[in-house]
Amino acid sequence: MKNRDEILAGAGVNTRLAHAGNDPADYHGFVNPPVVHASTVLFPDAATMESRAQKYTYGTRGTPTTDALCAAIDELEGSAGTILVPSGLAAVTVPFLAFLSAGDHALIVDSVYHPTRHFCDTMLKRLGVSVEYYDPAIGAGIEALIRPNTRLVHTEAPGSNTFEMQDIPAIAAMAHKHGAVVSMDNTWATPLFFRPLDFGVDISIHAATKYPAGHSDILFGTVSANAAHWAQLHDAQITLGTCASPDDAYQVLRGLRTMGVRLERHQESALELARWLEGVDDVSRVLHPALPSFPGHALWKRDFKGASGIFSIVLKGGSPERYKAKAHAFLDALGIFGLGYSWGGFECLAVHVNLNDRRVAKGPEEGPVLRLQIGLEDVKDIKADIERGLAAARAV
Ligand SMILES: Cc1ncc(COP(=O)(O)O)c(C=O)c1O
Repeated sequence: MKNRDEILAGAGVNTRLAHAGNDPADYHGFVNPPVVHASTVLFPDAATMESRAQKYTYGTRGTPTTDALCAAIDELEGSAGTILVPSGLAAVTVPFLAFLSAGDHALIVDSVYHPTRHFCDTMLKRLGVSVEYYDPAIGAGIEALIRPNTRLVHTEAPGSNTFEMQDIPAIAAMAHKHGAVVSMDNTWATPLFFRPLDFGVDISIHAATKYPAGHSDILFGTVSANAAHWAQLHDAQITLGTCASPDDAYQVLRGLRTMGVRLERHQESALELARWLEGVDDVSRVLHPALPSFPGHALWKRDFKGASGIFSIVLKGGSPERYKAKAHAFLDALGIFGLGYSWGGFECLAVHVNLNDRRVAKGPEEGPVLRLQIGLEDVKDIKADIERGLAAARAV
């Protein structure tokens, strides 16, 4: 028989998701890897203990469970190595700490996930790193912002809540020309719809809390590096001790098995609803990169293989003092959508988006912005729920 890895390398994405990460032959034929709960690992003798010359040495440094997930993620990302951390936010902060030092300058996209901004404005600032926010539409123009001490360029596309696209290859080329590391929060697309390392990114970041875990019950992050940056990322993980739990690693690997089929459904339902909402009278704009009307659509089409299930709508607002009342009326009328943060789970969620933190890339101002995570429910029911929300907002 041909080598299993060779067969899988040429297989379709759902085949790879079903088999990536562990070989049942390693565990007596059991299809899933064991969940190894570990701190202590024993050594057979003092010499081995001194040299640490064995595969596993201590729980923080990996177990068969975490290795299985890392191998699966490396395969999906095309990365040299992956670290597993306890949340999506830690998947941002750990690489920032790995590559930034006092006196460095970091360029962060202005449409960034808000807690990333908070980390930059508080802890990074305290550690002596200067942070500057740039327009997501900047492209190769980022070169004008690069200083001799610019060490990191952080991207996130589409942007949080407003879904601005970025020209990742152009930004990466400029950053590399000046010796900066390029990181990307790729949570929205997952490696199924965009592989950052193939487009010049050095560090690919995922809140695996979302689509990989997929069931709104796990907090988890993965950070994957190309060969040039793997040693430094791995070293930071060992130094910080930010390892993830084996039970959660197991659940994320379990989630990956169905991520492809879940994403197909999220994509299809979200697009159907986004297209419908574009024609609805109460809606001023639909912020979804796969819609030809969206300003970043050409970049999405050029670089991405698909779209996941979260987008925003801007309601026709009337006067700004009514925005909040309209948004709350919409949210309070919903019965299927839950009012909750996060996304990527099986269920619909909605939130009134606050864009007050933006400095360069101001969000839509003509009405309240509502972010919709489209779950796995039936589209007709989701649509009826949104109609309930729209009717309530209209009455305000
Ligand atoms: C784009 C993005 N990155 C990172 C995170 C952080 O993930 P976690 O909730 O696991 O900390 C989130 C969470 O909403 C997110 O939307």
